Amino acid sequence: MATIIGGIATSHIPAIGNAIAKHKFEDPYWKSFFDSYEPVRAWLDEQKPDVAVVVYNDHGLNFFVDTMPTFAIGAALEYENLDEGWGLSTVPPFPGDVELSWHLIESIQSEGFDLTTCQRMAVDHGFVVPMQLLFPDRQPWPVRTVPLHVNTVQHPLATPARCYSLGQALGRALRAYPEDVRVVVLGTGGLSHQLDGQRAGFINKPFDLYCIEKIVDDPNELTRLTVHEIVRLAGTQGPELLLWLIMRGALSEKVIRRWADYHVPISNTGAGLLLLEPLEAVLADPS
Ligand code: DHB
Ligand code: FE
Repeated sequence: MATIIGGIATSHIPAIGNAIAKHKFEDPYWKSFFDSYEPVRAWLDEQKPDVAVVVYNDHGLNFFVDTMPTFAIGAALEYENLDEGWGLSTVPPFPGDVELSWHLIESIQSEGFDLTTCQRMAVDHGFVVPMQLLFPDRQPWPVRTVPLHVNTVQHPLATPARCYSLGQALGRALRAYPEDVRVVVLGTGGLSHQLDGQRAGFINKPFDLYCIEKIVDDPNELTRLTVHEIVRLAGTQGPELLLWLIMRGALSEKVIRRWADYHVPISNTGAGLLLLEPLEAVLADPS
């Protein structure tokens, strides 16, 4: 049976990809940010997941605002990273897990979530930057991947409550998968940021810290927010919090917080990092 070994929430700011490409790891602006990923990387090295389900939002690479599915899942042999116009070199393609993808599609669809299925899917910084941060200098990529895209760009968006329920359905689907695979679920993006409009540059540190705290033990409180409240509190790109909620929903009700960090600002964003382990995983292996 598949085991969900943990969930990781991480920023996906494209400037991080630029800093990685230019090896700015010791640069004073970046050092403490990159260093804060070390415990999470050590955990991944030790836990050796086989698969990463990456919950992210496409920002206009694979889907544009004219055709934007609310939820879309990859079912491809591999996922290509194409040029997004940032001038960054692309990274090698990410291996897929077609069998797991179709299992997830069947199972989640049967719970009433209508997913767009993608047998071809290019992945942008929302997917790529977290993979680079979590698996640096690891080629070939050490995990198979399943991308799960959620619209946080073109309104109306799915509600936080709906996204949390989707995460719960994803968790049930993963736990019902008959193969013996170890799965880590990534929720990428966030926290508060606004890239355009009158409030460009807006960041709300107290709200970000509130989200980092609540998502661990009381995610239901976050599901009571509306999308528009999130925009008001966390900026126009703040709804990337939906991706964190899906990751959290996939884990069990009780989780242990293994690591948390917050850097502000990184580029234009309050950058959060969380590593959560389901309580049953900790009880099974208390080391
Ligand atoms: C930034 C953050 C994002 O999440 C994104 O998709 C693009 C840019 C930023 O902070 O610059
Ligand atoms: Fe983003």
